[in-house]
Amino acid sequence: MLLLYIYIGQIYRLIIIRKLGMSEENLADVRNEKAKKIQHPKGKLTAYERIHLLLDEGSFSEIDENVVSEENPEGEAVVTGSGTIHGRPVFVFSEDFSVMGGSLGEIVAKKILRIMDLALEAKAPVVGIKDSGGARIQEGISSLYGYAQIFKKNVEASGKIPQISVIVGPSAGGAVYSPALTDFIFQVKDIGQLYVTGPNVVKTVTGEEVTYEELGGVEAHGTQSGVSHQVCETEEQAFEEVRYLLSFFPQSSDQKPPNFITEDDPSRNVDSLESLIPEHRNQPYDMNEVINNIVDDGEQYPIHANYALNIITSFVRINGNTIGVVANQPMELAGVLDINSSIKASRFVRFCDAFNIPLLTLVDVPGFLPGVEQEHGGIIRSGAKLLYAYSEATVPRVCVVIRKAYGGAYIVMDSMGLGADKLFAWPSAEIAVMGAEGAVDVINRKDLKDSDNPEELKQKFVDEYNEKFSNPDIAAKLGLVDKIIKPSETRKVVTEAFKELVNKTNVGDKHGNIPL
Ligand code: HXC
Repeated sequence: MLLLYIYIGQIYRLIIIRKLGMSEENLADVRNEKAKKIQHPKGKLTAYERIHLLLDEGSFSEIDENVVSEENPEGEAVVTGSGTIHGRPVFVFSEDFSVMGGSLGEIVAKKILRIMDLALEAKAPVVGIKDSGGARIQEGISSLYGYAQIFKKNVEASGKIPQISVIVGPSAGGAVYSPALTDFIFQVKDIGQLYVTGPNVVKTVTGEEVTYEELGGVEAHGTQSGVSHQVCETEEQAFEEVRYLLSFFPQSSDQKPPNFITEDDPSRNVDSLESLIPEHRNQPYDMNEVINNIVDDGEQYPIHANYALNIITSFVRINGNTIGVVANQPMELAGVLDINSSIKASRFVRFCDAFNIPLLTLVDVPGFLPGVEQEHGGIIRSGAKLLYAYSEATVPRVCVVIRKAYGGAYIVMDSMGLGADKLFAWPSAEIAVMGAEGAVDVINRKDLKDSDNPEELKQKFVDEYNEKFSNPDIAAKLGLVDKIIKPSETRKVVTEAFKELVNKTNVGDKHGNIPL
């Protein structure tokens, strides 16, 4: 049935080409010109313009342009093909909203599945550019079947090849789940919106009145839900960033990430880090200062830069090699681990592990966030995700405890017990079961109750506890810290550690990157 459909479509297509007196190539141009009239007034680029921004100039080679349907003989609602990014092969599909709102019917699904199969065979990344009204209503259940096949293919590819989605239009209904199964979602402000059901359905069902942007725009998904990893001001910025992100990754799980030659001396001392930690242990500082100072050229690419800010997840290079950084951020909620930050870090760790990217963990965590909301919201399950992610990771793992590392949160942030390969601590590290205040309340409760001056006594106990436990010495004696290092030598020490571990990674398929 599908073949007959395609056959009829191709006959129509040939009639149109003859009628217009043109070649196959400029039919794509005509299609693009028509699309501009629909897309540009909406502030959006066309499917072809987007592909050209994404790929190296002149590298795009379209396939399946003749696979058309009776309704859309000039071309179906997706443009597919391959090209290169920084000289390396990449497969791409770009939904064309100017054709039936980019909706997905049987033929669109077939084209997308074909490009994903090719990417899997070629062991190269696939980028999906999303601008679609969802399942093509006129095709009914066939379009749902098409989506189901794409979702299954996303899962088959998960952890094998990097999959990236760029949301540059509506991504409605079925169109949301394929991106959600990919590794990274880029969303462009004002034009990119993701929602399972639109504002009209929401109003009917719940009575809530909401705009498309409020429901599924960049604020909703870049900051609130965390569905989108990157938020971009313009399409140009989004495609530039996708190119940059891919430069960190191997082409597939069968390779190690590429190495870049760096001018930045790997044994460079960073004197400014000696004075970074504030005098008072509860005063915040910006963990980005640590990261930017120890990575090559001060350059990091943060993932989920607007979401769960109490943890930083970034791609960086150290000595020219890609490293995934997970770091608590004392500037936000004192760097505490909560549900969102645990989930954010877990998926990042699992992506890095799947694609042979070594992990650097920087720790300053006072604990898990207490509270009924967190407990009832599943902090236990979320924390377990991070424990699972680190425990299963077989890539080289280096951890540096900067300041606080208390209790369960110490364990979960790549402690030695979970399998960190090398663990260093700054002299300011406080590795303990809990912070002094909480500990004193428990172990000195009786003394404090009986005291005439409990406040003064508490301070005395707190000072004693800090003296005894709030340091890296006990952990170092137990072999749970390899070395106490000067902050200024962190770049050098970390570089050396990763060098030692260079042969640890066994490339090959490990696991998928399930959305957590
Ligand atoms: C068929 C569609 C379509 C669809 C849009 N079009 N969505 N055709 N199936 N799903 C068509 C329109 O009829 C219109 O055709 C053209 O595309 C442009 O659409 P407009 O509405 O004029 O554009 P705009 O004003 O920009 O609005 C875009 C939109 C809106 C917000 C996406 O079209 C919309 O709400 N569409 C339906 C979204 C939706 O509910 N999808 C869920 C489908 S069910 P003409 O000929 O007039 O130009 C689904 C279930 C799968 O996906 C679940 C799997 C898990």
